[in-house]
Amino acid sequence: MRMRRIRNNPILRKMTSETSLDVSDLIYPLFVIEGENIKKEIPSLPGVYHFSIDRLDEEIEEIVELGIPAVILFGVVDHKDAHGSGAYAEDGIIQRACRKIKSITEDLVVITDLCMCEYTDHGHCGILDEHHVVDNDVTLEYLAKIAVSQASAGSDVIAPSDMMDFRVARIRRALDENGFTNIPIMSYAAKFASKYYGPFRDAAGSSPSFGDRKGYQMDFHNGNEALREIEQDLKEDADFIIVKPGLAYLDVLARAAERFNTNFITYNVSGEYAMTMKAIECGIFDESIVYENMIAMKRAGASMIITYHAKTVAKALKEHRFD
Ligand code: PBG
Ligand code: ZN
Repeated sequence: MRMRRIRNNPILRKMTSETSLDVSDLIYPLFVIEGENIKKEIPSLPGVYHFSIDRLDEEIEEIVELGIPAVILFGVVDHKDAHGSGAYAEDGIIQRACRKIKSITEDLVVITDLCMCEYTDHGHCGILDEHHVVDNDVTLEYLAKIAVSQASAGSDVIAPSDMMDFRVARIRRALDENGFTNIPIMSYAAKFASKYYGPFRDAAGSSPSFGDRKGYQMDFHNGNEALREIEQDLKEDADFIIVKPGLAYLDVLARAAERFNTNFITYNVSGEYAMTMKAIECGIFDESIVYENMIAMKRAGASMIITYHAKTVAKALKEHRFD
């Protein structure tokens, strides 16, 4: 078969294109920090900023203006304790940020990352038992409480990233019992214990003070296990499934998307972003490498992409720079 008959004609090429990227596929991560009048570039994530709540207006307006449909919020706090109480405080950083964003616009879906590592003094994603191991079932009760607190503050979608077993079912029950039956759960179902989260942990101040996260996040040698995780979360009624990281885990995403008929999201994580930006800065690539990466994630089966590139991609799409 001659393949080049179609390839030689740019219009036919476009007509037969199998994968597209639209601004509505993008979710932008936002780091909200304590304090006032802060808009400060994050050293580990060039081009991404820490915002204090009073400085969110401008950023939110720009995001809406660009047509980006959703943000995912992360909180950076000063006060931390063993129970991560800042995560479910009525006036916690995420709770205040949700209320603030909702007061600025109705045209943005606010997703809240649900984890404890940004709020615990030990930096682990849950409550520790007497052996300093994260106690799954005790943590579930906290996650349920945080989910209800976030939904009460106006979060549109709850995104648990802790990797405790049965958290989707526990959070679903808590949301339903508190009148939030219409709030979906976006589960980080297949989340691997990855070095690619390094720049995020610097940005969020969420590195574990001892040990690592291998006791709850997935072992990156395993693909079949990821399918079991996803199956389990779908059984527990997760509305969206996240595979994370993105680029190095496209095989997992592709297998999952073939197997399950649901809404897949990939998280193009901080380390991938930092690596790509460094390569662009060094002149190894121009910025269209970002488009190629986004298409790869869509082609593998993602319907949406959480990415620190979202604003630049949205601008480039608008200006037809990726055509
Ligand atoms: C919290 C959380 C992490 C990320 C998202 N939510 C860090 C971690 O698990 O250590 C990573 C995001 C990124 O690297 O961009 N558990
Ligand atoms: Zn965590």
